[in-house]
Amino acid sequence: MPIPQEFIQELKSRTDIVDVISSYVNLKKAGRNMVGLCPFHTEKTPSFNVSRENEFFHCFGCGVGGDVITFVRRIENLDYIDAVKFLAQRAGMSMPEKDFDSGITNLKNRIYEANREAARFYHKQLYTPQGKEALEYLRKRGLTEKTIIHFGLGYSPQSRFELVNHLKSKGFSQQEMIQANLANLSQKNYPFDRFSDRVMFPIIDLRGNVIAFGGRIMSDIKPKYLNTSDTPVFNKSRNLFALQFAKNKANGQLILVEGYMDVIALHQAGIENAVATLGTSLTTEQAIVLKRYCDEVVVCYDADQAGQKATARAISILREAGLRIRILTVPDGKDPDEYIKNHGEQGTARFRMLLEKSGSDVRFQLDTLRKRYNIDLTEQRVEYLTQASRLLAGLDNSIEQNVYLSELAQELNVDKAALKNQMHRYERQNRRDHQKREQRYIQEHISARNDKINNEKFYNLRAANAEEALLALIMLNPDAADTVFSGVSKEQFITSFNRKVYEILKKHAMQGGEFSLTDISGEFSNDEVSSIAKILASHPRENDAVQAAREYMQVLAEENEKMSPEQIAQADTQTLMEQLQKLKEKKK
Ligand code: CTP
Ligand code: MN
Repeated sequence: MPIPQEFIQELKSRTDIVDVISSYVNLKKAGRNMVGLCPFHTEKTPSFNVSRENEFFHCFGCGVGGDVITFVRRIENLDYIDAVKFLAQRAGMSMPEKDFDSGITNLKNRIYEANREAARFYHKQLYTPQGKEALEYLRKRGLTEKTIIHFGLGYSPQSRFELVNHLKSKGFSQQEMIQANLANLSQKNYPFDRFSDRVMFPIIDLRGNVIAFGGRIMSDIKPKYLNTSDTPVFNKSRNLFALQFAKNKANGQLILVEGYMDVIALHQAGIENAVATLGTSLTTEQAIVLKRYCDEVVVCYDADQAGQKATARAISILREAGLRIRILTVPDGKDPDEYIKNHGEQGTARFRMLLEKSGSDVRFQLDTLRKRYNIDLTEQRVEYLTQASRLLAGLDNSIEQNVYLSELAQELNVDKAALKNQMHRYERQNRRDHQKREQRYIQEHISARNDKINNEKFYNLRAANAEEALLALIMLNPDAADTVFSGVSKEQFITSFNRKVYEILKKHAMQGGEFSLTDISGEFSNDEVSSIAKILASHPRENDAVQAAREYMQVLAEENEKMSPEQIAQADTQTLMEQLQKLKEKKK
């Protein structure tokens, strides 16, 4: 059942798009709009615009845009109904749950239930004869009974049918098990357990739902870890292992480690603000999530080369999200789990000392750089300092820049002013490069040729432009809407995407509804909403909207008189001559 229009209108009136977006993006005033760094792509100069008066956002960098509901859908990874619920809750409106449950919400709830049942089943297996080896494995790795229960660890039996049968007995359908990625379908079309003979780590979201599993093999067989693939309730690049515990212990700081076992060992040792990614390297979405719960992230990856590379990547992603960063390197190439275990009773205290000693990300980057040069040789010393000033040019905070310039100058006994000069030179170059890159990006993404949503636009440019102008007029100048609705039939829209938008706007108008982007976004996909927001963003409000409407209607009428390439191919000579004559007359 769709959500009633009145509900959306009430929600709209109680929700300020700037207010909502501000809790995710740092917005500053710029003319009539607010601008900030786009949360959906990585950028250094803000091209993310929010219009309070017209109730939409649009990024000129990546082309993403929409109304406030679409924003929540994208940033919280929710479907339409859940995004409306999210905003309704925020606005203090109550929404009768049941009536609005869409098919997808039902499926999600079933998947949560199947996962919870699976987690319970796996955990119980640890205390059966077939799970004995797994339990011993966990104990050998130093985990206490309390930790095993706290994290809900378990064991997936070797036979490929025990979970499937168990879930079946609890009333779950084959479809549900497969959608939850707890089972796979065999070639002969029967479902079998995805996880077999593995130690199981449930992954739990912030609301306490079991959303996925990681499973570790106890021997040397590959892959070492098998994880749930993305499902309707799980997206591995948006969630973090143990965040549900760590967020309450953060106190401004979270520790980012590589593995499940590292997290568990740290928590057991009383360091409960550790989290890990889920088998992938850190993503921007995860950084945004982290930023919600802390200001500072301590990156504690393996000391090997892969780990150092991952650290460098994580630094740039975390910086973009506005987090402070420290880098903790565990000595002797150990991971945190091994380190803590090796130091027995002293493990916790020693790890806390490493935490105290951990340096900033800039220090880490300078040290990494320095290792590449032999500072005793003049030429290499110059090169090191040059590269170091380039690195500092990338920092936004001039106090921070100054501190490191002083350190460098002192460390290598050179003039600080000269270093600073060089740094400024790089800053200017960076600015030029960024501008160029962003312009290129915009050109590529905004040109009609690349319009994936309206792929007919490129071949009907004049018509599509008039159509878009008319759509913008309706949404931005309600006083001109009647003129358009009564003067243009939907058949006159030449490109089918624009026609669809027009039809939906008209439908809302006929039902007496309003027709801002928020009123209609429920009928479109996220990408479609982006396209509509782009149309709004590129059309300013008209002073004389009715007059403007007439002009665009005229253009559209002219375009409708033209024959399409198919029509030309099929027309007889007589018709073609007439058409030609018409065009000639118009030229005069
Ligand atoms: N990982 C994965 N798939 C693999 C290997 C690793 O998803 N085939 C992920 C897991 O989340 C794992 C993390 O990467 O926890 C780190 O991997 P690794 O350092 O190899 O594992 P450890 O956590 O040290 O695992 P263990 O101590 O159990 O060997
Ligand atoms: Mn390990």
